[in-house]
Amino acid sequence: MKLLVVGSGGREHAIAKKLLESPQVEQVFVAPGNDGMTLDGLDLVDIGISEHSALIAFAQANNIAWTFIGPDDALAAGIVDDFNQAGLKAFGPTQLAAELEWSKDFAKKIMGKYGVPTAAYGTFSDFEEAKAYIEKQGAPIVVKADGLALGKGVVVAETVDQALNAAREMLLDNKFGDSGARVVVEEFLEGEEFSLFAFVNGNQFDIMPPAQDHKRAFDGDKGPNTGGMGAYAPVPHLPQSAVNTAVETIIKPVLAAMLAEGRPYLGVLYAGLILTADGPKVIEFNSRFGDPETQVILPRLTSDFAQNITDILEGKTPDITWADTGVTLGVVLASEGYPLNYKKGVELPAKTDGDIITYYAGAKLAENSNRLLSNGGRVYMLVTTADTVEAAQDSIYGQLAKQETAGLFYRTDIGGKALGR
Ligand code: AMP
Ligand code: GLY
Repeated sequence: MKLLVVGSGGREHAIAKKLLESPQVEQVFVAPGNDGMTLDGLDLVDIGISEHSALIAFAQANNIAWTFIGPDDALAAGIVDDFNQAGLKAFGPTQLAAELEWSKDFAKKIMGKYGVPTAAYGTFSDFEEAKAYIEKQGAPIVVKADGLALGKGVVVAETVDQALNAAREMLLDNKFGDSGARVVVEEFLEGEEFSLFAFVNGNQFDIMPPAQDHKRAFDGDKGPNTGGMGAYAPVPHLPQSAVNTAVETIIKPVLAAMLAEGRPYLGVLYAGLILTADGPKVIEFNSRFGDPETQVILPRLTSDFAQNITDILEGKTPDITWADTGVTLGVVLASEGYPLNYKKGVELPAKTDGDIITYYAGAKLAENSNRLLSNGGRVYMLVTTADTVEAAQDSIYGQLAKQETAGLFYRTDIGGKALGR
């Protein structure tokens, strides 16, 4: 069969590469993808993620069995609804189901109504009301733009002044446009953060190995929030009992809630969780795979990924299996200056193969040559699987020491929390 993946980042590279490993899959197209993906035999299609009709026409003309949707903005724009209306199968939630991600206020209301543990909060579109709430609650406190803001619309404020500034920027200065026209102000949750993903159809689901992202730009969780600078899975110091509790108190009730609300969920559900003293609590839901977590989770999948997704789309129970030993860890290389301004066009080191996978995000071939150049904030990611976190770190950081990475930067402490650092 032939498949289409929509998106262009490292997440989509990992999804498409895994699909192509299936013996039933002859070709995987990625729209729009990035040039680095072609080194793994993936075929790029020059159509943007918001061009639904062109994507649908491509899928029809090329006999695509089904389409896997990567990014949140495509899901929020209703790409799955449009594919379904055209009689095509697409893996991902409908626009109504994806509201769990595209409106934090909606997610909070669902959690409140169905008793899913999350931080206490208030939602505001009026600055004075937000101000009164922030002053009453005190700091630390978290201010979030209601809508999608590419992971950058969240301010964890250590002082009341910082929180007021954030609310002012979002509500009065329009820093995030419409996404910040409403803000959610919530209680600061203290504890270990982890990401739990599930493949879902209705109330049937399969949990993936838990992962931990590193959202801050620099070592020691310093610097601005980014899309994610590295990840590992599973999380060795996370007790299985915490995962089991999260399944019972969070995943099951939210899927039942979506059914009860007439918004049955199909796709990947991503729960961003903090393991507090009172058990796991939700900081956010996403309606898709995470990036960079996907790049460390999918290499651990030992079943036929294409068959698994086909089964889920057909309402069957998929036979999903995972590697049960070792840990998979990956480090992101980003352009100097990311997540703010950065330059493009830095020449990238050769792709690694074998034990270390290179997944590309912002990468582009130089004109009339096979030199790969940086072309985005996050550029590429090295991922490996080893017996322990230390062994995986040694392997990745050993490889990076041999690579020419001028113009790029990376964190040197990915996986550190697993080692108590
Ligand atoms: P988000 O975009 O919602 O994932 O938030 C970005 C980051 O802010 C998260 O990964 C957390 O590290 C942090 N964060 C968000 N909400 C909270 C909260 N209620 N308490 C503590 N940290 C939070
Ligand atoms: N890893 C964070 C995200 O995908 O939103």
